[in-house]
Amino acid sequence: MLKKMPIGDTIIELSEIDSTNNYAMRLINEGMAEHGVVVRADFQTEGKGQLGNTWHSEERKNLLLSVILDTTGFSLERQFYLNAMACLSVADALMTNYTLRDISIKWPNDIYAGNRKLAGILIENNLRGNTWTNAIIGIGINVNQVNFPDLNRATSIRNETSQDIKMGALMKQLFRSINKFYEIFKQQNESLFEFYNQMLYMRNQEILFQKRYEIFKGILKGVSTEGLIEIQVENKLKRFMHKEIELMLE
Ligand code: BTN
Repeated sequence: MLKKMPIGDTIIELSEIDSTNNYAMRLINEGMAEHGVVVRADFQTEGKGQLGNTWHSEERKNLLLSVILDTTGFSLERQFYLNAMACLSVADALMTNYTLRDISIKWPNDIYAGNRKLAGILIENNLRGNTWTNAIIGIGINVNQVNFPDLNRATSIRNETSQDIKMGALMKQLFRSINKFYEIFKQQNESLFEFYNQMLYMRNQEILFQKRYEIFKGILKGVSTEGLIEIQVENKLKRFMHKEIELMLE
């Protein structure tokens, strides 16, 4: 795969698809993918969210896209660097184009405006043996959708700004931001985590979290380069993986 093309120079536009991530994975498996290609759809019939959830989105209202990256040469052990890069890119694009209050990253990869979720990210990796060959960064940004029937914590740029948002301008900025943070990712530079932690939702605040059937209280201190969340519980710093605990929000 050629590595030269800037991310977002080639966009495959679809009106309807099961999931842009699935489409991107099919391109990779058929040997038809190139680094930097983006797949965007107006509507997904089987949009995928984190932890096997479905990502619902009204037709043409939101930005739904997947970015294909060539990851050969990068260590899978550092896959959380890519997660940090993706979160920072989405947050950067949102903060650059709009006056949105309080944009933050909720560990591991939700983008929040205040206490509401504005965007979600689903990264899927492709391996050949132990080699990390490709990553698909799936990004869903709630743009002009106003009602979120079963999701009381969701919001959109429109809901936050009371403006009708031009999707094209947001997408262009998103690619600028992704290209900017991809350069830092390429250097495998830990500064990504400084930025990530600076933007971390609820950082240094007391939170409740659930581990299996128990509920604990602690202070959220940060996220490590491996993607573990660090919570201070009674003067001890504890580290947890995603899926091991759930942050309990009011
Ligand atoms: C989450 O649960 O927060 C992650 C949501 C990711 C949704 C996006 S929409 C475009 C891409 N295609 C998918 O099927 N999912 C991602």
